[in-house]
Amino acid sequence: MWADLAPIGRDKSTGGYRRYAWTAADADCRAWFRAQAQARGLSYELDRNGNQWAWQGDPLAGDAVVIGSHLDSVPDGGAFDGPLGVVSSFAALDELRRRGAEFTRPVAVTNFGDEEGARFGLACVGSRLAAGQLTAAKAYELRDGDGTSLPQAMEAAGYDPAAIGPDPERLARIGAFVELHVEQGRALDLSGDPVGIASAIWPHGRWRYDFRGEANHAGTTRLVDRRDPMLTYAETVLAARAQAQLTGAVATFGKISVEPNGVNAIPSLVRGWLDSRAADQDTLDAVIAGIETAARDAAGRSGIDLTVVRESFTPVVEFEHALRDELARLLGGEGAPPVPVLGTGAGHDAGILSAAVPTAMLFVRNPTGVSHSPAEYAAEDDCVAGVRALADVTEGLACA
Ligand code: GLV
Ligand code: MN
Ligand code: MN
Repeated sequence: MWADLAPIGRDKSTGGYRRYAWTAADADCRAWFRAQAQARGLSYELDRNGNQWAWQGDPLAGDAVVIGSHLDSVPDGGAFDGPLGVVSSFAALDELRRRGAEFTRPVAVTNFGDEEGARFGLACVGSRLAAGQLTAAKAYELRDGDGTSLPQAMEAAGYDPAAIGPDPERLARIGAFVELHVEQGRALDLSGDPVGIASAIWPHGRWRYDFRGEANHAGTTRLVDRRDPMLTYAETVLAARAQAQLTGAVATFGKISVEPNGVNAIPSLVRGWLDSRAADQDTLDAVIAGIETAARDAAGRSGIDLTVVRESFTPVVEFEHALRDELARLLGGEGAPPVPVLGTGAGHDAGILSAAVPTAMLFVRNPTGVSHSPAEYAAEDDCVAGVRALADVTEGLACA
């Protein structure tokens, strides 16, 4: 499975993946998923929001155990964030068949669409739409950097954007969703464990900062006459770092667009996207407020107009304790050491769906903790341990 996925959407110069929603690379990932379903005799479904499902057993029977993740990537992402969960899910089903497992509940493998939000700016679009956390009307307003709207992109990829929207009947048929994911930190490396169980996801969001000044000649405009939004942006980046350090949160400006974007022109507009996350809501509120106050002070001093728009927000997710404890019991076994339980600052479809169905997550050790980068890595032995854990959990939940 890895060999088939490896070349899809990989940029030769960086070695990173560029699998953005509704692009050719995304279509190739989707074709791969469908072929994997068909090769195993699983019934294949595409839901109204573009999420893919591969069913072992009757999709309509209810109380299904769903396992899976996503196949899209951030710009120049690694091989594991998302695909490890989907590949491991198919491999776990293979392992259960090898064990001769007798299924008492339907099991589905899923690929949720547009998890990273790399193209349209909003993460987890497929699961948010299904759970009713993103309305179709709001989704229609999403545009990529070239001005292409989400419905236009869906149509160009051969999908029907008129169908998108909440899918409560489908979610009602799910009894449990377990997402396996590469760890995006070093907790498991430090504890010496190949696999862990998620406790919670930090509250997190994305804010767009528009700094508007005045375009002018870079050679002839006196410094005192400039209204240069790049300076205010730079002060804001430093303020974000200082606020994060003060509170133990994280705050990152990782994406920026500049107009007119000329080497010899003072910018008229600097647009920066802030991603911020914290262990609790009060801390996140304080960080966000502190950054905005610093930005407004700096803007006021330099004659810059500032608009701040919150583009997305996900409140804290505490994974359901009963399912989490059940996973710990299934993986703990007689005399085995307890599986570590850890929180994460990364967002996931499991976090979105947790509002509608019982969800849980398994993490697989990442020896460097690096993620959202081509250097993201998990050792083969650990990946196999992840598959075994997911198979054990699925067997415990869905088999006699
Ligand atoms: C998704 O990986 C996110 O946490 O942004
Ligand atoms: Mn990610
Ligand atoms: Mn992911």
